[in-house]
Amino acid sequence: MRIVVLLGPPGAGKGTQAAGLAADLGLAHVATGDLFRANVAAGTELGRLARRYMERGELVPDDVTLAMLLGRLAEPDATAGAVLDGFPRTRAQAEALDRALAERGERVEAALLIEVPEDVLVARLADRWICEAAGHIYSRAARPPRVDGRCDVDGSPLVQRADDRPETVRARLAQQLGPLADVVAHYERAGILRRIDGTGSIEAVGAALRAALGMPARSSAAWPSARPAAASGRSP
Ligand code: AP5
Ligand code: MG
Repeated sequence: MRIVVLLGPPGAGKGTQAAGLAADLGLAHVATGDLFRANVAAGTELGRLARRYMERGELVPDDVTLAMLLGRLAEPDATAGAVLDGFPRTRAQAEALDRALAERGERVEAALLIEVPEDVLVARLADRWICEAAGHIYSRAARPPRVDGRCDVDGSPLVQRADDRPETVRARLAQQLGPLADVVAHYERAGILRRIDGTGSIEAVGAALRAALGMPARSSAAWPSARPAAASGRSP
């Protein structure tokens, strides 16, 4: 099982990059934020619990998150492995992932940190639009849809994520950058951390991520055909 971890603060571009990277590697794209949002949208018990934390910009407790992640990795499309987007988010999650992989004689292959300064993150999150059907990600500045307000892939309406309200963005940054630094330190100690400049174009960041994994550059940043999770958000 190949596990590649994509790290970065909120708005760094993990989701924008992860699906295409996973498709190129022949791995599943597993995004814990997408899984939580799908549960919120479906009104499951997990979704009701996760929502309480997400709307405050806090991390969902480790035990709940880990159980969901390991369940997802046990699904058939993840047999070959996965690109993890938004997991691990705490040192405890990173250590639990290491233990789960070690039980199978495996380990995280690489941890790629997308670095973007805070003022750029805030601007990006204010301008993020996602499609209601599948969470495809747009930005008026960097990746506008072909038809205003509609997803290029499935035509569904573009909405803003509930946690992209300015006050929640501030809370996410305040509460999540510390734990991210712990995860970064964890992979630095393991000698598998690679730092990627996330301030370039979407294509440039994609090329840098692929270069860090020793992969050939990608000719276009086309959407992969499918994303696993539903999205929820408020209408524009
Ligand atoms: P999650 O959904 O993972 O949110 P996040 O980590 O805050 O990251 P984002 O999805 O906001 O940003 P991104 O890096 O994916 O950026 P994107 O590609 O969209 O988690 C949500 C919540 O769930 C958490 O707050 C927490 O409550 C909970 N949670 C999730 N995982 C958890 C875990 N493991 N443990 C505990 N709790 C957990 O890009 C952003 C915008 O920028 C887009 O508009 C995009 O078009 C644009 N953009 C991207 N790249 C570029 C570029 N190079 N140039 C210009 N614009 C760009
Ligand atoms: Mg994301």
